[in-house]
Amino acid sequence: MADKHNELTNRQGHPVSNNQSQRTVGSRGPATLENYQFLEKISHFDRERIPERVVHARGFLAYGEFEATGMIGDEPASKYTRAKLFQDAGKKTDLALRFSTVIGGRDSSEAARDPRGFAVKFYTEDGNWDLVGNNLPVFFIRDAIKFPDVIHSLKPDPVTFRQEPNRIFDFMSQTPEAMNMLTHLFSPRGIPASYRHQEGFGVNTYKMVNARGETVLVKYHFHPQCGVASLTAAEAAKVQGQDLGSASKDLFEAIERGDYPKWDVFVQLMEDHDHPELDWDPLDDTKVWPEDQFPLRRIGVMTLNRNVQNFFAENDQIAMGTGVLVDGLDFSDDKMLVGRTFSYSDTQRYRIGPNYLQLPVNQPKNAKVATNQRDGQMAYHVDHASEQNPHINFEPSIHNGLHEAEREEPYNAPEVRGPLTRSVLERRNDYVQARGRYNTMMDWERDDLTGNMVELLGQCERDVQERMLWHFWMVHDDYGHRVADGLGMNVGDVTHLPPLAKQVLTDEDKKRLENLG
Ligand code: HEM
Repeated sequence: MADKHNELTNRQGHPVSNNQSQRTVGSRGPATLENYQFLEKISHFDRERIPERVVHARGFLAYGEFEATGMIGDEPASKYTRAKLFQDAGKKTDLALRFSTVIGGRDSSEAARDPRGFAVKFYTEDGNWDLVGNNLPVFFIRDAIKFPDVIHSLKPDPVTFRQEPNRIFDFMSQTPEAMNMLTHLFSPRGIPASYRHQEGFGVNTYKMVNARGETVLVKYHFHPQCGVASLTAAEAAKVQGQDLGSASKDLFEAIERGDYPKWDVFVQLMEDHDHPELDWDPLDDTKVWPEDQFPLRRIGVMTLNRNVQNFFAENDQIAMGTGVLVDGLDFSDDKMLVGRTFSYSDTQRYRIGPNYLQLPVNQPKNAKVATNQRDGQMAYHVDHASEQNPHINFEPSIHNGLHEAEREEPYNAPEVRGPLTRSVLERRNDYVQARGRYNTMMDWERDDLTGNMVELLGQCERDVQERMLWHFWMVHDDYGHRVADGLGMNVGDVTHLPPLAKQVLTDEDKKRLENLG
């Protein structure tokens, strides 16, 4: 006799004794409408999909822990932050990490030339902390208002539904701040070999706050202990010809066999002010902070040791965002970070629903939740405190409702003054770091980078090619010449181009332009 424990039921708990045939009049039909079991099954199936993420649709989640050193480099962590997860050596915090590609849809290739997401949810005792990062240390743009444009240019053409190099480089050619990111993305590091072999970067500038309320600017870094490994374009083509989900498979199987991936976690710190001595702005996410000036300081190690049990419930429904910080961590005025902080929870209310924070993967596991937010679609439970009067869903109240936390949270709040404006950061210096990176590349790396560029630029129209060539030349002579050779052009072909409207050139850029003439 069949095992009663595995008996099939419908969602009302009714046993299902025939799952093969609808109810029909006679064996050849017609079907009847009071066919509850069939209608429930098919109508649930009709609703199985939720909107995929507008970016980072393909991804894979795993769980693990962060173990703190109690230090930030060789100083006690408490000197810079009061965030509890960093305070004591050996302190462990549960976490979930979702890796992703950015542009492709939910079933797209994991071997594409595309940044990789690196989004960590720390389930701390003070509530959740999300650090939503990428595998590359910089980004294409520095103001969130440009994000829909950069993503539209990279996503498929709205008519042909193909990713079109001409659209991508049309946008990039008008976006000089993208040159650093493009130089990273098209370099030999542009296609990670797997999720285990990639770095993670917070990219945007955050703050840490200590018990005295003093703040420092901070950037986060994760280095894989198994090393960074990447694919060439030819290797990637082979991988994705056989398996679109190569990176998820690699991660899942490594965790199943107990080969737990680990990352060393570091921060870079900077005093919290605008640093006029630098020729770039600390709030500019198109720039790295040079490690010789702002050394990496180790704060802990992160291990992934558990796989998801259900891809949809966990990977698809996890929701992370840059607004999710704990006491001791804070935002900076980085204009990308501010825009991102609105965007994530906004899209999650649409993508998952207004009660997405009640789902198990999103709940703060190690802190209690007590709010007066109620109801809405799919409200699963009431976020009340155990002693709370269930009639009181407002604050203040003298009838045993929730009350504000009695906490001293010292914070040296910055005084902000200035005209209300729409403007760009003054210190842009769009080419300097791309040049620095190009300078450190070996010959084969330059070949690979420029070959990858030529591959796509070769499919672009002449005006787009010329402007991209102009930027590459502005970054570095050799960069320009190699791309020009690959395209069958010469740098002289772009000498007539004036700088872009509103482009701010440094003195060095101006000198290069004069030489070009
Ligand atoms: C996902 C917006 C820049 C990393 C997303 C999503 C949105 C978004 C709407 C989908 C979230 C969801 O459906 O749950 C933005 C905006 C940006 C921006 C408006 C710029 C203003 C960045 C940058 C990074 C980044 C600079 C890297 C540091 C990610 C990651 C995910 C993501 C890793 C996937 C999170 C996950 O795995 O669930 N972003 N993003 N984004 N974004 Fe951004």
